[in-house]
Amino acid sequence: MENKRGHVLAVPYPTQGHITPIRQFCKRLISKGLKTTLTLTTFIFNSIKPDPSGPISIATISDGYDDHGFDSSGSIDDYLQNLQTFGSKTIADIIRKHETSDNPITCIVYDAFLPWALDVAREFGLAASPFFTQSCAVNYVYYLSYINDGNVKLPVEDLPFLALQDLPSFLSVSGSYPAYFEMVLQQFTNFEKADFILVNTFQELELYEKELLSKVCHLLTIGPTIPSMYLDQRIKSDTEYDLNMFDSKDASFCTSWLDTKPQGSVVYVAFGSLAELNNVQMEELASALRNFSFLWVVRGSEEAKLPSGFLKTVDKEKSLVLKWSPQLEVLSSKAIGCFLTHCGWNSTMEALTFGVPMVAMPQWTDQSMNAKYIQDVWKAGVRVKIENESGIAKREEIEFSIKEVMEGEKSEEMKENATKWRHLAVKSLSEGGSTDVNIDTFVSTVKSK
Ligand code: UDX
Repeated sequence: MENKRGHVLAVPYPTQGHITPIRQFCKRLISKGLKTTLTLTTFIFNSIKPDPSGPISIATISDGYDDHGFDSSGSIDDYLQNLQTFGSKTIADIIRKHETSDNPITCIVYDAFLPWALDVAREFGLAASPFFTQSCAVNYVYYLSYINDGNVKLPVEDLPFLALQDLPSFLSVSGSYPAYFEMVLQQFTNFEKADFILVNTFQELELYEKELLSKVCHLLTIGPTIPSMYLDQRIKSDTEYDLNMFDSKDASFCTSWLDTKPQGSVVYVAFGSLAELNNVQMEELASALRNFSFLWVVRGSEEAKLPSGFLKTVDKEKSLVLKWSPQLEVLSSKAIGCFLTHCGWNSTMEALTFGVPMVAMPQWTDQSMNAKYIQDVWKAGVRVKIENESGIAKREEIEFSIKEVMEGEKSEEMKENATKWRHLAVKSLSEGGSTDVNIDTFVSTVKSK
């Protein structure tokens, strides 16, 4: 019956890397019979203008920056405070609005970065589940830091193979982004009060780390949040919610361009939605890439950092530069030989799920730990070495790392490992797989509430 099917209000932290996995998770919940409503901030909603006839209902919340969005040069502390103040109020309004409908909200799934959403859920007697968008390994290290007043001692308890440079940047670079550091620690303030703890990873990828985190909370692995129905075929990406909107002509051009390229010949280069390279690093990268056939995503805000005249010199037969790509479609193309990535958690899991080996160039936050795992635990790529004095990855080193992955001595092994992770990811998503069973557990509990 329509009014007995359970209704999840999904509240992502308002950036691309957080909206995408929660939205994909919503689609999976819908396929299993739940109703979902996804919140977007008013500013993001107005920027994307999502199709109202899509499967997920959308509701807007406020972060206090409805008209112009948050200017990233502003105070992050202020932003997070406003997101909590205005966000709590507007989430409560949405719940109230649905109370008299056929399908009242029964559960809030909120980004673990927003632990205050649990209080809103409890105020209305609703179930509440944080959604952790990063790996079990990263969350375990943050947890250790949380219980040790923001510190982690080396060797890291239970993870002795981690060096300082492998830790999330908030821990390895002292004093960097204190407001964000505080936010990742706050994830653990009330998590034991939640009904479920959802983590966007899959059990087989992090068997040991999942056990570690399970010592402190009862969690369900529910990733990768990649639409499974597309996994065995060339997929049509669904880019409607991408904040860095690009011309759809570019997207279809990009995929037909890839179709003309030999298997494993193209280096795909992308740094996610937020990371910013400095001008020197951009020049080193551009110079290294000249030696390959590449598809490089350079967001509009990064374009001015390209060496002058670079775009004019790119031979379009051989290489492409785009402002944004349909990444899942790109990674599923046989033409891609490796993915030079900043190791954002979504990009990392997407590459593993499509069996693409990686060249890891982490920039900040959880990315260095993901890079460590890519190279030394999952053995599906190499991490580019950074020159100590300059903090820059030099052109020769980038070129060397790409060659290592594409054709070096260990290239075959890395490709085989990437393929192994792909099979395990697909298995976890398939009926009866670890992720699928966990999602069923979550869905049946929400339906029974
Ligand atoms: C950030 C953090 O880096 C990440 O580790 C955290 O878990 C979430 O927030 P971001 O830096 O944007 O995210 O990287 P990532 O997690 O890789 O997410 C980027 C998303 O944008 C991916 O889903 C990717 O497929 C998509 N994307 C990126 C595109 O669709 N096209 C592009 O051209 C680039």
